[in-house]
Amino acid sequence: MALAERRDIEPEIADLLAARPALVMHAQDGLCFEGIALNAIADKFGTPTWVYGAATMRARYVALVAAFESVGLRPHIHYAVKANDHLAVLSVLRAAGAGADVVSLGEFMRAQKAGVAAKDIVFSGVGKSPDEMAAALAAGIGQINVESAEELSVLSKVAVKVGKIANIVLRMNPDVDAGTHAKITTGLADNKFGIAAHDIVELYAHAARLPGIRPVGIALHIGSQILNPAPYATAYAKAAEMVRALRAAGQVVSVLDLGGGLGIGYYDEPGISLSAFAAMVRATVGDLGVQLLLEPGRYLVGPAGLLLAAVILQKQGSAKRFVVLDAAMNDLLRPALYESYHGILPVSAVDFVSAATPADVVGPVCETGDTFAIDRVLPSFKPGARVALLDAGAYGAVMSSSYNARPRAASVLLDGGQTHLISPRQTQSDLWAHEIIPG
Ligand code: LLP
Repeated sequence: MALAERRDIEPEIADLLAARPALVMHAQDGLCFEGIALNAIADKFGTPTWVYGAATMRARYVALVAAFESVGLRPHIHYAVKANDHLAVLSVLRAAGAGADVVSLGEFMRAQKAGVAAKDIVFSGVGKSPDEMAAALAAGIGQINVESAEELSVLSKVAVKVGKIANIVLRMNPDVDAGTHAKITTGLADNKFGIAAHDIVELYAHAARLPGIRPVGIALHIGSQILNPAPYATAYAKAAEMVRALRAAGQVVSVLDLGGGLGIGYYDEPGISLSAFAAMVRATVGDLGVQLLLEPGRYLVGPAGLLLAAVILQKQGSAKRFVVLDAAMNDLLRPALYESYHGILPVSAVDFVSAATPADVVGPVCETGDTFAIDRVLPSFKPGARVALLDAGAYGAVMSSSYNARPRAASVLLDGGQTHLISPRQTQSDLWAHEIIPG
């Protein structure tokens, strides 16, 4: 399903709730996430606030590992840090056993700061700078995913200079349509990512001859929020073919990095079936005798986070009812950028059962694009009522900004029945702390 496609019939709030076992509505306490009342969090920390559930992250990690174990595979899981790079989140996933997939020196340093060993980190991305390469190599990075011949030659020079051997995989562009939103499709020939399949064998041989470079395998990543295993199956079959072609050409191939992209249910549908995905991996690449790598981001953290917001006011426009929240596109950009759907639940039990009618849910930013939902069937809200924007654990806080001089929201992590403040709300002086008035 394309992210931009709206479902003809959107789920009702009761269906959204029923599809998310970590969320429960209590008659007195209202909506609870991992057993903790969101109203209590809003009372203590204010709104808007990102709320993350550690138990949900761990459960999702465990489910992914178990799905692969049940087909006899043990892929190394490298959490895609870009989905949510908070140190507390990285540290939960590291403790669960994850390595990291990073796309910048900043993410590399964060992952290490959260305790991920450099050898358990892979560096992806279409434009790594020589400084980033040098720093990652000097720190002992496990693997660098090379996306072009140009990058390979720079990396070789940098590795020689730093006195390190770079374990590299070549990222192949399989030219497969992942059937997802155009802005997050990466595996098509006209996307900027990867190396054309017909160039891989020659470039791999070239890499094997370059100083400072040790080619260990290939990688691919076809896109994000993929709910159907079929495009993966096509791409992975091409990867298997490539591994065989490389071996036939006398190359050593010990790693196959399958990328990320596992989709979650933003409505009330299930996410990608882990058992179907694992079975497909087993069938397409399970017999190659390579170490498999996975780079999931959204799957692990998306449903483990929500954005808790309050209603500033409700206004009746000439044609529509508008619910104006204290959260905005600067906090959660996905609806504005991809027209993506996020479920919205009232936090109070009374609101939850009140008569509901369509309304647009918007933020206070001065752009029409600052819209979280159009014609969403919701109750009438009093100022101060709280709502939860669901499935905001991935590509939420990381994509936020301070547009309209709006300080970044606070973040809390729920863990073991405790609520931990993991980022205080920014202050106005935080926002101008690094600004200089000349003279
Ligand atoms: N590996 C590579 C090389 C990637 O480019 C990505 C995501 C991932 C792994 C992780 O993908 P995931 O498992 O999270 O789908 N901001 C967009 C998503 C951009 C994804 C970019 N690359 C959104 O909000 O939907």
